[in-house]
Amino acid sequence: MKNSYQIAVLPGDGIGPEILDAAVKVLDRVAELTGVSFRYVYGRIGGCAIDEDGTPLPDETLRIAKESDAVLLGAVGGPKWDQNPGHLRPETGLLGIRKGLGLFANLRPATMHPSLVEASSLKPEVVAGVDLIVVRELTGGIYFGEKKRYTVDGREVAEDQLIYNEAEIERIMRVSFEIARKRNKRLCSVDKANVLESSRLWRSVAERVANDYPDVELTHMLVDACAMQLVRAPKQFDVIVTENMFGDILSDEAAMLTGSIGMLASASLGEGSFGLYEPVHGSAPDIAGKGVANPLATILSVALMLRHSLAMDQAADAVERAVWAVLAAGHRTADIAADKSRAIGTEQMTAYVLEELAKQLEN
Ligand code: IPM
Ligand code: MG
Repeated sequence: MKNSYQIAVLPGDGIGPEILDAAVKVLDRVAELTGVSFRYVYGRIGGCAIDEDGTPLPDETLRIAKESDAVLLGAVGGPKWDQNPGHLRPETGLLGIRKGLGLFANLRPATMHPSLVEASSLKPEVVAGVDLIVVRELTGGIYFGEKKRYTVDGREVAEDQLIYNEAEIERIMRVSFEIARKRNKRLCSVDKANVLESSRLWRSVAERVANDYPDVELTHMLVDACAMQLVRAPKQFDVIVTENMFGDILSDEAAMLTGSIGMLASASLGEGSFGLYEPVHGSAPDIAGKGVANPLATILSVALMLRHSLAMDQAADAVERAVWAVLAAGHRTADIAADKSRAIGTEQMTAYVLEELAKQLEN
């Protein structure tokens, strides 16, 4: 473990700046309590960068990210930029930074906290105890294939290419097997092998890599069946690995099982320890600037960063325990509150976490 780290902080749009303020407060407290120091370098991405720099991903931002130990990202996007052409959309900045930093593995854990079971729209007995993780391939597939528009016989045609090569599939499989090995040793690979050629390659590479992990049980599921099983019996899943677009959809579905997308963190990793950490939720323009956003997904993303990129496992555990303790004590932001009139705001929630963190790190 080093004793000083540089963190790139990219707040983005909407509630991004508010929730990253909370994240930085948590890191400052971790620094105080552990003696490790963090240097923050701020950069723009998404809509704010379009407005300020004329591009959703300025070179400067990519440079800052590359020279840091890890990246913390808020959220991008908002109605202001929704009508923009592709290259001037906030989302293009997000795809660009994923690709530019080689972050091919996106980890999206969906864990049901016992005191939030009632927040799910599904029956308590179906969701209580859900603890799964979606590993989404993040830099290939249809998101990054060639896109075309042309006219044939006077009709407009649009084309999106879906390409995967063996190497791309193999590396995401290895990441997933490694994760499964540290959990309950069950990996479900999700594809559409009954229709798509890329899925048939996906499945055969999964089978081949499985030979190196005899201790992990590999199963295959078609994506439509998986979408159904996630709401029917989510506890059957431990680790799910899937391609980029299926992972986009299934991870939102998995997130919603917990009833609180405002609670879910994500990590995007490449080779090595470097990573980008962001909440799974979006920029929530409707509540931006009101001080009511739930900072917990971002704070839990900080925990993932401490663990994966900074080798600060103890601090990571302490941050997670602090969040669970605050929830167990009954503190709720509006998105997860049964009684909205008693909901607290972003700063108050963060303050409770900071208080708990001191206790947890002393333990
Ligand atoms: C996500 C988001 C992005 C994606 C959008 C904003 C481009 O939905 O991170 O899941 O589709 O990857
Ligand atoms: Mg998504």
